[in-house]
Amino acid sequence: MKPNVLITGGGIGIGRASAFAFARAGYRVFVTDVLAEAGEAVAAQIRAEGGEAAFHALDVRATDQAEAVLAGVQAEHGALDCVVANAGIAHRVPLPALSDAKWDETFEIDLKGMLRVIRPALPGMQARGRGAIVCISSIMGIAYGWDQHVAYSAAKAGVIGLIRGLAVELAASGIRVNGVAPGYIRTAQLLSDEHSLGAAGAATAGANIPMGRIGEPEEIADVVLFLASTAARYMTGQTVVVDGGLLVGRY
Ligand SMILES: NC(=O)c1ccc[n+]([C@@H]2O[C@H](COP(=O)([O-])OP(=O)(O)OC[C@H]3O[C@@H](n4cnc5c(N)ncnc54)[C@H](O)[C@@H]3O)[C@@H](O)[C@H]2O)c1
Repeated sequence: MKPNVLITGGGIGIGRASAFAFARAGYRVFVTDVLAEAGEAVAAQIRAEGGEAAFHALDVRATDQAEAVLAGVQAEHGALDCVVANAGIAHRVPLPALSDAKWDETFEIDLKGMLRVIRPALPGMQARGRGAIVCISSIMGIAYGWDQHVAYSAAKAGVIGLIRGLAVELAASGIRVNGVAPGYIRTAQLLSDEHSLGAAGAATAGANIPMGRIGEPEEIADVVLFLASTAARYMTGQTVVVDGGLLVGRY
């Protein structure tokens, strides 16, 4: 029987690449997103390639939606083998505009949204004594501060704490919890002029990365897949930096 993986924010970017990586590794993939058209297209392409996939609309801000989607998937297909908590936003908000509402918006998606999808997957994983959870943090959470993105930096640092706490509490149940902290990766998030580096900024950033370029979503997806696999069976509570050498560079 195929292992099951559920991915949040799976319609585009790193989530989309992860959906394909897991499908090609033999997983049945549950793609979830607020972007229904993009998410449906990913699931359809996986099926066209001979894999198994379905799309479910899921806004990670909504606990009832998360619980309903996870309940439906598990009732039909059994416990999840892996949850990839990937959905995130990175809005540019200068400090004077960082209202409680803007702060909460980022936390609801980037940090609290992760626990909302992880929590309903746990009883099934615990009953079987195995499971893997992979959360996407950022170099902005593990090492860098990011001006005008204070909520993002704080939420992504929170993800690292979430990973560590869950890992210790769940270790005895056979559930491993790890994360990836991507550097600069070519996705809609990074290429947004409004909220991030934009295309020109990404090119400049690439020149300052020891490997000489920004990363591709597939280069994160492969590490997510590794962390979910038995190759990482003695790893838990870790957040792996995947950044082309950026953080260890001397710039
Ligand atoms: N691209 C980078 O350079 C980079 C670097 C570090 C970390 N990350 C993180 O990687 C993850 C994926 O980002 P990406 O770069 O692929 O960006 P992206 O903008 O391409 O994808 C983000 C995904 O999250 C989804 N999403 C947003 N709000 C949601 C909500 N409320 N409910 C459900 N889904 C929602 C989007 O629809 C989209 O599918 C994010 O957590 C991001 O912070 C990205």
